Amino acid sequence: MRKKIVAGNWKMNGSRYDAHVLLESIKQGAGTLSGVEIIIFPSFVYLQQCEETLADSLISWGGQNLYLGRAGAFTGEISGAMLVDYGCQYVLIGHSERRHLFYEDVNLLAAKYKAAQYVGLQPVLCVGETIEEREAGKTESIIQQQLASVVEAASIDAFRQAVIAYEPVWAIGTGLTATPDQAQEIHAFIRQVLAAYHPGIAQSVRILYGGSVKPDNAKSLFAMPDIDGGLVGGASLDAKAFLAICQAAMYT
Ligand code: 13P
Repeated sequence: MRKKIVAGNWKMNGSRYDAHVLLESIKQGAGTLSGVEIIIFPSFVYLQQCEETLADSLISWGGQNLYLGRAGAFTGEISGAMLVDYGCQYVLIGHSERRHLFYEDVNLLAAKYKAAQYVGLQPVLCVGETIEEREAGKTESIIQQQLASVVEAASIDAFRQAVIAYEPVWAIGTGLTATPDQAQEIHAFIRQVLAAYHPGIAQSVRILYGGSVKPDNAKSLFAMPDIDGGLVGGASLDAKAFLAICQAAMYT
């Protein structure tokens, strides 16, 4: 049985005050939600607030990105070791905004994946196709390529502790959600790709769906057999909505 995860990706949003209010509200509301793992991915500058507020809770937190190596002359970058220093357990790797807006390619992402594991962070590897790729019938080949590049660089063993997030680019921040059946089809495909390397790991890896997850669609998505929770953007900035999504994950 794979424990469900609901993760909030705050992206480049919030203020110090907003982070304080949001973290306190989520912590209070999550007190009774023991059946679901909750992770917060704030902007780097609010990680210390996560550590201070959430250290005595069951909620984890992580970075939205990292750079390679422990330290060095990489102006503007944050290393995995620095994330660990702030109590992070997770890090997002290859979010579509990193792939498309910041041109992070499969080789860099594979290196980042390895860098995360090297310092003991659990990577949340994000994969997903654009609308053009979907319409051209390339969804599976794109996802296969996004997964294979990391498996081949880091080895399938590196997926024992990993989490994957399927985020169709066309569903991110658009209000368009993949239907539960559309999402399930790709989640099953992701498991099938991993099973070709190692059936046991394919069964145990948790695969989250992301893309306009809201309180009113979370339950039907999370009820699908290969959907192990959600990576939530916009709705994670509203404590009530985020907690409702966590609640939906408890009962599916
Ligand atoms: P939205 O939930 O705002 O569509 O964002 C999804 C996402 O990109 C989470 O990483």
